[in-house]
Amino acid sequence: MFKEYKAIIEDNLRAYFDERLKNPEYKLFYDVIESMKYTTCLGGKRLRAIFCLEAARIFSNDYKTAIPTACAIEMLHAQSLIHDDLPCMDNDDLRRGKPSNHKVYGEAIATLAGDALITFAQQVIIEKTPANIEPEKILKLLYEYSIAAGAFGIVGGQTADIEAENSKEKISLEHLNFIHKYKTGALFKFSLAAGAILGGANDKQIDAVKAFGEKFGLAFQIKDDILDFTSTSEIMGKTTGKDENSNKSTYVTIFGLDEAQQKLTSAVDECYGILRDNDIESEVLVKIIETLK
Ligand code: IPE
Ligand code: IPE
Ligand code: MG
Ligand code: MG
Ligand code: MG
Repeated sequence: MFKEYKAIIEDNLRAYFDERLKNPEYKLFYDVIESMKYTTCLGGKRLRAIFCLEAARIFSNDYKTAIPTACAIEMLHAQSLIHDDLPCMDNDDLRRGKPSNHKVYGEAIATLAGDALITFAQQVIIEKTPANIEPEKILKLLYEYSIAAGAFGIVGGQTADIEAENSKEKISLEHLNFIHKYKTGALFKFSLAAGAILGGANDKQIDAVKAFGEKFGLAFQIKDDILDFTSTSEIMGKTTGKDENSNKSTYVTIFGLDEAQQKLTSAVDECYGILRDNDIESEVLVKIIETLK
């Protein structure tokens, strides 16, 4: 299932961009579409898209309806990576094993490509979701999207992250969890909620997958902080060792490696707990949680 989901995401993402790149009407701005496609189609684990498809499958046994939304989520994720790597943000030259977007297309086009991905993602949801899906579901989905993508989601989290880094002071655990909840948790939470909404889940079920997504996001970011310290740029496909060098507050820089690992283990346990308490059965979700161990 995992492989099948990933292949479907890759194929559809490519097609959404290529459809536009074939249209001569857009030839004066092919550059920005190429730049959008470059980072989005460069690979990546596709965890958020897989979460979305799997949530739709759990509640309706039909994941295909969620394909455009799952692809849109990868577009929004790619946007967050493009902007995260800009010189005014983390100033990273390497992403997914290749030069970062601004290294290939320049800062202006990279900034514009990020902006355009936020709206193209919504366009894809509206244009490509099968017509038999009730408009109320699409509206609910786009409302959740607008929260996750903006000041009350990723943008808010990235703001708090950059400001904490610039202040050069060690922050509290509460402050760090707040940053992780928004910069990383918001998108995982949305990914699952989106699949659940399309799958016809009720409000209680939507809340359960949101709680899972947020907790998973925290565990995922703790793992990312650990890997920044312990892994290599070759393995990760992005520059490692940056958090320590830039004096950034992370789980590792605040607690040390051992305690960060313990805190990861308890966040992972809580993820399993949420699935158990809500009778959510999913080999795919369990397999993804296991990658964090
Ligand atoms: C990277 O996310 C950004 C973080 C939230 C740490 P991923 O590690 O999921 O990146 P890709 O999509 O696999 O490249
Ligand atoms: C970024 O966190 C999370 C995003 C919203 C992109 P990081 O800055 O730690 O992500 P990486 O390590 O560069 O992927
Ligand atoms: Mg960052
Ligand atoms: Mg970064
Ligand atoms: Mg990181």
